[in-house]
Amino acid sequence: MTETAECPRCGGTGWRLVDREGMSGVERCDCYAQERGKRLMEAARIPPLYENASFENFSTQPENPIASRALSTAVTVARSYAREYPYGVKKLGLMFIGDPGTGKTHLAIAVAKRLMARGFECVFFDYQNLLELLRSSYDPASGAAQRDAYRTALDCEVLLLDDLGAHRVTDWVEDTVTSLITYRYNNNKPIIVTTNLRDSEAGDAAVPSGVGGDSTARWYLTERIGIRARSRLFEMCRVVSTRGVEDYRVRKNR
Ligand SMILES: Nc1ncnc2c1ncn2[C@@H]1O[C@H](COP(=O)(O)OP(=O)(O)OP(=O)(O)O)[C@@H](O)[C@H]1O
Ligand SMILES: [Mg+2]
Ligand SMILES: [Zn+2]
Repeated sequence: MTETAECPRCGGTGWRLVDREGMSGVERCDCYAQERGKRLMEAARIPPLYENASFENFSTQPENPIASRALSTAVTVARSYAREYPYGVKKLGLMFIGDPGTGKTHLAIAVAKRLMARGFECVFFDYQNLLELLRSSYDPASGAAQRDAYRTALDCEVLLLDDLGAHRVTDWVEDTVTSLITYRYNNNKPIIVTTNLRDSEAGDAAVPSGVGGDSTARWYLTERIGIRARSRLFEMCRVVSTRGVEDYRVRKNR
């Protein structure tokens, strides 16, 4: 804790003497929260590609009225969640839903960074990667690292589950995601999810096409994670839709 050691306000103790209405006491020094925020960031597993993702460098694309409306709402909801969590929010979690490249992961990470700066633990997991970690943890030859990672996904304060449902469906996958979500649901632990699957709750046509195909964008949430996990997710999360927004990756390369 080099910062704390050098802090001129508290002499490195993390506590400050305060005087309130003639009563003296101690209070956490600001350096304590800064140091904690820094350590949370280091443990958050945020992918290098999103290291700089924040609200400040997220454009609401004012030049495009349709995209702009969806993105402005998304940013407003995300910002107020990051500010009000946990007591001032109606639902403890968020679900970003929309097509690929529309800024879901960027916004989810911007939220997580704010929460960490406020001292809440957030841990990022890519959905596919988490399933692989878990699968390999059944292998007796696998290390404790895999098992620890899954434990973290279960028990961390705020779980960021990125690209939910981006995986072919098997009973094993459905059971695994259901048990993860049920565990967090039962223990009142929030999830911030991103997904590019479709759902009637996000304004998509109510009846799944059943066609599927090879583009994940055409799949429905129910088809990929099952009705039980979906049901809990909607109870836990406020939906933030980026539907109608153009793919930023494609636009940027034009
Ligand atoms: N409105 C925006 N302003 C600035 N950068 C953006 C915006 N939207 C997306 N980006 C950037 O474009 C890239 C793709 O965005 P992001 O990864 O958040 O998309 P996504 O919706 O999560 O896509 P996918 O469904 O494929 O995971 C990222 O590098 C992100 O920082
Ligand atoms: Mg994403
Ligand atoms: Zn200090």
